Amino acid sequence: MLLPLLLLPWAWGALAASPPVPPGSLTLRLLKTTVFHNASSSNMEGMALIGDLETHFLDYSTGGIRFRQPWAHQGLTPRQWQDLETMLHRYLTNFILLMNKVVKDEGEHYPFVTQFSLGCELHLNGTSRQFCDSAVNGEDFISFNVDLGTWVAQRGDKLALSIRDLLNQDKSTSATAQFLLRTTCVSELQSFVQYGKESLARQERPVAVVFARAPPPAGTPAPLLLVCRVTGFYPRPVRVAWLQDGEEVGPGWRLNSSGILPNADLTYQLRSSLAVGPGDGHSYACRVEHSSLGGQNLLIPWGHSRPWGPGLAVGITLGALAVAAMAVVLWWRIRRGHRDIRPGEPRA
Ligand SMILES: *[C@@H]1O[C@H](CO)[C@@H](O)[C@H](O)[C@H]1NC(C)=O
Ligand SMILES: *[C@@H]1O[C@H](CO)[C@@H](O)[C@H](O)[C@H]1NC(C)=O
Ligand SMILES: *[C@@H]1O[C@H](CO)[C@@H](O)[C@H](O)[C@H]1NC(C)=O
Repeated sequence: MLLPLLLLPWAWGALAASPPVPPGSLTLRLLKTTVFHNASSSNMEGMALIGDLETHFLDYSTGGIRFRQPWAHQGLTPRQWQDLETMLHRYLTNFILLMNKVVKDEGEHYPFVTQFSLGCELHLNGTSRQFCDSAVNGEDFISFNVDLGTWVAQRGDKLALSIRDLLNQDKSTSATAQFLLRTTCVSELQSFVQYGKESLARQERPVAVVFARAPPPAGTPAPLLLVCRVTGFYPRPVRVAWLQDGEEVGPGWRLNSSGILPNADLTYQLRSSLAVGPGDGHSYACRVEHSSLGGQNLLIPWGHSRPWGPGLAVGITLGALAVAAMAVVLWWRIRRGHRDIRPGEPRA
């Protein structure tokens, strides 16, 4: 049936004893999206991820498994990878046939899109959680309750209910799915984490700047919006806070955040803004806490880069003084030079 095939990637041998996992909650996830354009044409994307790091993907044109990380081939021999590809190819062919039959029998329409997300999450306290969810045309469809070993429809229409009933009749598939998610997935995760520990431990330092958004028109009492832009950090967890006179500003209407957003190079960014009264006399700074900073924080005060901040005013004054001093010295030397070479005057 459908499900042993869906879960097939978990049958990757490596059940051998695995070394302990480094600290941190870890997730191994398989994602698969299939677009059925019509009865004779479909596209598929499949990938495996550890946390946010893509490790493997499916080359749909050849049915091959490709590696995104130099260590991703470890754990299986070339022969085992080949066998896995052969099984995968058979599964994908069956899956396409089966779904086209479902579309026809149930009166569904093309394009028809299916998505699967399955895997396991290993927590710091040694417990694990498993998930296996599917969606059809962008909506939750059927999920597997790993503890009970039963399939649960996420919507009430005929298609979802009939496929759920079909799956629930097949007790051996459910037992296999439980085993693969609880045991195989967790041990695969533990072994991949060992092979990939350097990539998974990657640390990229955040770069942060503070600036004021375009100031409100003169004479309006509107608050000034200070923005702290933090970018280029990895891993994802970060803490950004605003300090007013050295004290952290608590949650409230003055604060706003973009949330953590991805960059194209597998680093992250975030913007946090703070509304301040124009010229309210307080000092402000943005504080960034991140694992790459080795226990220290980034502290970016607002004001040091303002075009007319006190720093710049002092700089300009000193600059003007220096220019004036040079002019005086030059003038004095020129005068002396003139005197030195004045013709007709007796030399000392
Ligand atoms: C099926 O869809 C593909 C991709 O959209 C298209 O190129 C092809 O002509 C379609 N075939 C039929 C029989 O409609
Ligand atoms: C273990 O950690 C997870 C995630 O942090 C939590 O949801 C779960 O309740 C914890 N379980 C125990 C037994 O402490
Ligand atoms: C927070 O920021 C978002 C855009 O970053 C903006 O759309 C939203 O209106 C802001 N909310 C408040 C309360 O300022």
